[in-house]
Parts: sequence; structure tokens; C-alpha cells
Amino acid sequence: MNEDIKTCIYSENTNADYGSALRTSLVRHPAIHILTEVHDHQGLIDCLGRLPVTLLVLDLDPKPASVLAIMEDVCARFPSLAIIALSDNAEPDLILSAMRAGCRQFITKPVDLDDLTRALKPLTRAASGQAKTERLICVLGSSGGCGVTTICANLAIELAQLAAEPCALVDLQLEFGSVATYFDLHPTHTIADLTNTPNEIDAQITEQAMTVLPSKVAVLARPQRIEQVAHVDPERIAQILKILTRGHDAVVVDTPRRFDRIGITALEMANSVLLVLQLSVPSIRNAQRLYKGLVQYGMPPEKIHPVVNRFTRNSPISPQDVAQHLNTGVFAVIPNDYQTVQAALDFGRPLLSDSPDSPVRKAIAKIAGRIYRGDFDSTKLKSERKAGLLSRWLGSGAKR
Ligand SMILES: Nc1ncnc2c1ncn2[C@@H]1O[C@H](COP(=O)(O)OP(=O)(O)O)[C@@H](O)[C@H]1O
Ligand SMILES: [Mg+2]
Repeated sequence: MNEDIKTCIYSENTNADYGSALRTSLVRHPAIHILTEVHDHQGLIDCLGRLPVTLLVLDLDPKPASVLAIMEDVCARFPSLAIIALSDNAEPDLILSAMRAGCRQFITKPVDLDDLTRALKPLTRAASGQAKTERLICVLGSSGGCGVTTICANLAIELAQLAAEPCALVDLQLEFGSVATYFDLHPTHTIADLTNTPNEIDAQITEQAMTVLPSKVAVLARPQRIEQVAHVDPERIAQILKILTRGHDAVVVDTPRRFDRIGITALEMANSVLLVLQLSVPSIRNAQRLYKGLVQYGMPPEKIHPVVNRFTRNSPISPQDVAQHLNTGVFAVIPNDYQTVQAALDFGRPLLSDSPDSPVRKAIAKIAGRIYRGDFDSTKLKSERKAGLLSRWLGSGAKR
């Protein structure tokens, strides 16, 4: 663990007692080493250019608007700098503005040691070099439109709730991914900031390219411009995922269905793959191809967890048919509720805030709970009806 986070404090309040109280509240954390304290914009820029600062603690009080403008300037000049904003005011609007201006952590004053420890975790963990999580979850669709982005977005929210810290959500559908759209987000930074640069990346630069939403989802959005996709290097993707697993309790990846080097890189690194399908013959056939392809590629079958989305009781195909066809248990079933899911999507509001009691949200929350506990037992799914119909429809293709 890094025992020496070189810190600069920026505060427009020059009162000596105030400064002393602020410093004391920060140095209670054993990793914080305060290099300097500055009170004006130019002084801050000079000091960041001169000193090896890794963390900037920005006091937003008493005039947040002017400090936020300074923060934007600092982020543009020093993109790898980690920033923690402090304020007396915990209004969501202020927190959001601070996040948009570039800080990744916000603490309400007086600074609580637990809050500070949580905020510093990505920095201390990055230095330790160890993966924090075994929850790198690739969500893979058996066909277009089967619900991957919906599941990714809502799963990330639920996992963030469980961990009480940001869950990383990476949109690896580099051409047409819609993770940002799902949250009605217009990100200033994207994965292209990390992939289309010859410069080395680290935890701070990676976090800087992400947008942390009020729902505690840290989104790494797909590139803004389609021509940027051609330059994305799989090795860089591996590096990014590695960094994210070190800094986050869970990492969810909206995974491309193509077996190209980028998709394979993510799948190889995944601890679990949620293979999403619907109860239709083409979707199940594709799921079987993908399942077999992954296993042949060397993925242990126990890492692949089929998830049936848009389940309706009157479907002639049952999850048990799927289990029989894939020759593996179905991990979870998410009901069909187009109105609820589409309304959440149209308004850019996740199910947890829009329809917390909806069966779809509850099903995804249950998946999150099981992932969180490491409970991937598929035998728990209750039998709905006997299998058999699908084999008839799929003919010889149904036999393995
Ligand atoms: N459980 C569900 N019930 C009803 N509609 C759903 C469900 N899951 C997804 N959808 C709808 O299916 C469509 C495709 O979902 P999306 O998550 O974008 O799929 P993908 O990312 O696989 O292309 C969207 O219109 C979405 O609202
Ligand atoms: Mg999608």
C-alpha cells in the first residue's frame, strides 16, 4: 500500500485556525503527506507544475463556483491528478457540478476519517498493484437487442449500492455502444482518451476518463467518434481492465459479441460471463454457439452463466429448455416488462430510481446480490415446466 500520498491543499479561506483544522482532519489518514497549501489559482498552477503532487484536496467553500472553474482548469492541465472536493454543502447539484468539473471524490465537511479512507482507496490500491475485485463481469448478448446494456447499467447500479462505492461500467461496444445514452450522459472523456494516446496510463488517468454518476456508477464510455475505434489496441484494453479491477469493488463490461481481439481480451480476463439470451430459437441457437465457442476457446464452463431476459410465462420455450439445450443451468431469469424498461431508457433514469419495485429491477438486484456473494449456483432456478419443445423445434441442432 502507498503510505505516501503527496497532497496539495487548495483553500480560499486564509484563516490560520481554519487551515490548521483542515490539515489536521486530513493527516489523520496515515497515507496523506501534505506537501503544501495554496490559496490562489496561479499559486496552485505553479505548485502543481513544480511539486510531485498526486492528490489535490480542493476546498469548495465559501464560493464553490469560482473553485469549480479552477478545478476545470487544473484537470485540463494535470489530467492524471487525483482530486477530492470538500464542502459544507452536500447538495446533489453541487456534487454533480464538482464531478463534472473533474473531481472523482466529494467529501462533506467536517472530514470524516472513514469517508476519507474510502475516497483514498483507489490511490492506495493502485499503488499496492493487487486486484481488489474478483468481480470483473462481462455481459455478453446472444443477439442484438437482447438486453445487454439494460442489464449492465442496472447491474452496475445495484453492485455499487451493495459495495457502497462506485462500480466501474465499461462500454466495450466501441462503435455503437449505448451505455452513456442509457444514463443520458454526454461524457467529456471517453475510453479513447486512454486508448488513443502513446502515453502510459495509470489509475489516476483512468479514473479521470470516467464519469461517476450520482448512482455511483463510474462510466467509461465508448469513443465519441467512430474513427477513433480503429486505433483501440487490445493491450491497452487489458491494461485498463486491470487498473479498474484494482480500484473498484466490481467492474461490469458491456461486451462486444464479435470474437475479435478486444472482445476476447475482456472475456479472457473476466471472472464471470453473463450470457444473455431471450426465449427465441435464434437467440438460443446463438447462445449455444457462443457458449461452445467460449468453452472451446478455453473458458471454464463454470464461468459462463446464462441469463434469460424478457421472460414471459406464456412463452412456448422455457428456461429449462434453455438449460437442456445448453447443457448447463440457467443462472437467472429477468421478466419481460417493456413499458418499465423502455421508460427508464427514454428518460435516462435507471430502474432503481424510476421503478424500484418493478420485477425487472428486483431480478437484476437479485443477480447483483448473488454476484456480490459469489453465489453462482444455477440449480436454484425453480422448474417452470418440462423441457422438450425446443428440441423439437431445433431438430438435430438441439442435441449436443
Ligand atoms: N427485461 C426487459 N423487458 C422488456 N424490455 C426489455 C428488457 N430488457 C431490455 N429490454 C428492451 O430491449 C431493447 C434492447 O435493450 P438493450 O439493453 O439496448 O439491448 P442490447 O444492449 O443487447 O442491444 C430496449 O428497447 C430495452 O428497453
Ligand atoms: Mg447495447
